[in-house]
Amino acid sequence: MKRRFLRILSLTLALLLAFSAAAFAAGKNEVKRVNVSVYGDGATGRGFCWFTEGRAGTDLDLIETARFNGSFDGAKAYTGGQTLYRGQYSHQVAVTDLTPGTAYTYRVGDRAAGVWSAPCAFVTDDRDAAFSFITVADVQASSQEDFLHAAETLQGAVETLPDAEFIVNLGDYVNDNTNEEWDAYFRAFAPYNNAFTGVPVAGNHDGNITNKLNTFCFRNTFCLDKTDNRSIEGVYYSFDYGNAHFAVLNTNDMYPMSQAQKNWLRNDMNGSDATWKILLMHRSLYSAGKNINKPDTIVMRDVLLPIIDELGIDVVLSGHDHMYMRTDFVKGEKRVGGVTYVTETFGGEQTTFAVDPAGTVYAIPSTAGTKRYVVNENAIDPIHAVAEKTLSTRGVGGCFATVEIEDGRLVYKAYTVDDETREVSEIDRFAIKKTATGGSDACRRDQSFFSTVYASGFNFVVAMVKMLVSYVKLLAQVIAK
Ligand SMILES: [Fe+2]
Repeated sequence: MKRRFLRILSLTLALLLAFSAAAFAAGKNEVKRVNVSVYGDGATGRGFCWFTEGRAGTDLDLIETARFNGSFDGAKAYTGGQTLYRGQYSHQVAVTDLTPGTAYTYRVGDRAAGVWSAPCAFVTDDRDAAFSFITVADVQASSQEDFLHAAETLQGAVETLPDAEFIVNLGDYVNDNTNEEWDAYFRAFAPYNNAFTGVPVAGNHDGNITNKLNTFCFRNTFCLDKTDNRSIEGVYYSFDYGNAHFAVLNTNDMYPMSQAQKNWLRNDMNGSDATWKILLMHRSLYSAGKNINKPDTIVMRDVLLPIIDELGIDVVLSGHDHMYMRTDFVKGEKRVGGVTYVTETFGGEQTTFAVDPAGTVYAIPSTAGTKRYVVNENAIDPIHAVAEKTLSTRGVGGCFATVEIEDGRLVYKAYTVDDETREVSEIDRFAIKKTATGGSDACRRDQSFFSTVYASGFNFVVAMVKMLVSYVKLLAQVIAK
């Protein structure tokens, strides 16, 4: 209850102060695009990032919210580094000494100049195997109006699940990846970025490298615990939260995925004994949108599905196709049969859980924004064969999903927010119960640097050949028609 009160207090404070932030600090040292991300251990680490148009100090003041009375006197002070990026300065500070289970208030800015952001807030993981989060996808807006409409979807999510501890954005924050669009995104989403920890996933529109100036955009916009220091159009990384391990893929990385990233994913997941293993990515392996028949997606499915089966991933959340889809439990590209169910009370309501299902659920929470696709009834055969729920959200509203975990129980729900009335409606749910929690006897499969580089190059050639074959097949189908 205390944490809930602090969460509501923090959100209210952020809402009030976000709208006055522009007046808070004007000029080239104005602090903008403030965000905090997961960084390694959800209980002790966070990455802070913000921008200024001119060179400025990179300072962070951090204080427990319970001690915050409007003043940062007694706050712990940190400093970080800055990078000149597309004519502006990206400031980043990584902190790894936080106290688990604590609500924090912070500000970022230039100590010497006395220019600061509005106070912002987040909570750390208390490691008690009970937590929840919100996920949205594909805001992909250009205008301030569309960004604000998408932000209203997130407002509906926060009102639905006020105890959420972080927000996953499954990528395509913006459309053309310009400074103006990122400024508009951060203005519209400030109340949420300033009150929650974020989990950023790189979308193809965020890593648009048709213009060389846009390379490295994602890593300069978010402070992440990146393993990958080479990819220019996104970032892959992982983090622990409660009894779950999350891996975040960069599906822009030499898609359909470099061998280096695949090796990393195997080592990363096999190195965790968490009860829940969750994969977050932008491009979708299972979808009923327009992108599912594209060769790059087909090849990525061929490459990643066997790895996901092998690693025993429980849930894959993704975006890219702006309609709603959720599969049954899938393994070997088929529905897993023989699943048993039990109905129990969860969060005060009767909930039906699949008990120890083999296989993985793949879900796309449509789009929080206004660019919506319809369900593609001609999607390749395996898609509809494993789909449990598909929904065109065009003309309906923005979409979000929530995930609540309590020890060996996981409950996923998806909702739409009506465009006109802003009414929140549940559209789908599934739940899993594990009778044995934790522990993994899988061993690490470390790869040497040279084998990784060699395999990465080999994989790239194979993938390109497969993609070429797919294009030829599609061309042949078109000619045949
Ligand atoms: Fe996309």
